[in-house]
Amino acid sequence: MFPKNAWYVACTPDEVADKPLGRTICNEAIVFYRGHEGKIAAVEDFCPHRGAPLSLGFVRDGELVCGYHGLVMGCDGHTQSMPGQRVRGFPCNKVYAVEERYGFIWVWPGEAAQADPELIPHLEWAVSPQWAYGGGLYHINCDYRLMIDNLMDLTHETYVHASSIGQKEIDEAPVSTKVEGEMVVTSRYMENIMAPPFWRAALRGNGLADDVPVDRWQICRFTPPSHVLIEVGVAHAGNGGYEADARFKASSIVVDFITPETDTSIWYFWGMARNFKPGDQQLTDTIREGQGKIFAEDLEMLERQQQNLLRHPERNLLKLNIDAGGVQSRKIIDRWLAAEQSALIATDKVAAGQV
Ligand code: FES
Ligand SMILES: [Fe+2]
Repeated sequence: MFPKNAWYVACTPDEVADKPLGRTICNEAIVFYRGHEGKIAAVEDFCPHRGAPLSLGFVRDGELVCGYHGLVMGCDGHTQSMPGQRVRGFPCNKVYAVEERYGFIWVWPGEAAQADPELIPHLEWAVSPQWAYGGGLYHINCDYRLMIDNLMDLTHETYVHASSIGQKEIDEAPVSTKVEGEMVVTSRYMENIMAPPFWRAALRGNGLADDVPVDRWQICRFTPPSHVLIEVGVAHAGNGGYEADARFKASSIVVDFITPETDTSIWYFWGMARNFKPGDQQLTDTIREGQGKIFAEDLEMLERQQQNLLRHPERNLLKLNIDAGGVQSRKIIDRWLAAEQSALIATDKVAAGQV
């Protein structure tokens, strides 16, 4: 269950650079491609002729051509032409609202008429030259909410990521969870600890000593439908921690856009934005490689957890204090789902002439 009237990250521009991309998002099979003047377009990945996936076709003069018998689909969902056929009566394809922004292609899998590009969250790090970004994409067979739980409770770092970002002090530091409107914030601060390997490397990358005590912070922010941005960092101890002057710290934003594919699978766009040494491409590559390895460590845990949950749907799971971030995030998602459901019922009633 996921809200459909919401913006999700669908893909990155390189994925549609030279051919159409077929991708299922929120159970909708969609083909993404560059139409006229390179503008991104998205329609149902289904050829009205015989049901072939249009994503197996190609783009010619800004139009999507079915790879089976040459039907030409327009970005408005209308068939433009087909060799030897009159196409006027052909059924229309669903069209999806789609926007290219911040280095991502965003899609609104629900009602295109409701899609307001202003609702795409503003990402300062994606537009400012003070910041550098590197990231990647994982496909994971789990409910998107399991990934939200994972990111809103970083105690798992101690165990899943023991050799890179984990350390026992994470378990020992108290965690605070607050709900601010439609945002859930879970934060944890650790003082006067030794940095784990990933952060030692980041300190070195920023030209700072890595063998002295640091203060460390993690501030996870969930916003619906499924975005989690996490401020993380370390500062040489005694300089104000999170508030410390830039010259004492290495800090960044962990970027997580979690896009449901089906009820039990996701497209996970992960990355890291940093505001130190933004021009250092090699550092960006090193961080991305490190982060990619660390985040791959979550995959097996999440997929096997999902299998267990499917096998035992009757089991009630515990909700401990460390789970508050995920629990509160799910409450917001549930509110969105309920609102979407009641809007649907109202529309159906109007359609049925009951009001
Ligand atoms: S299935 Fe697409 S043209 Fe025949
Ligand atoms: Fe993790």
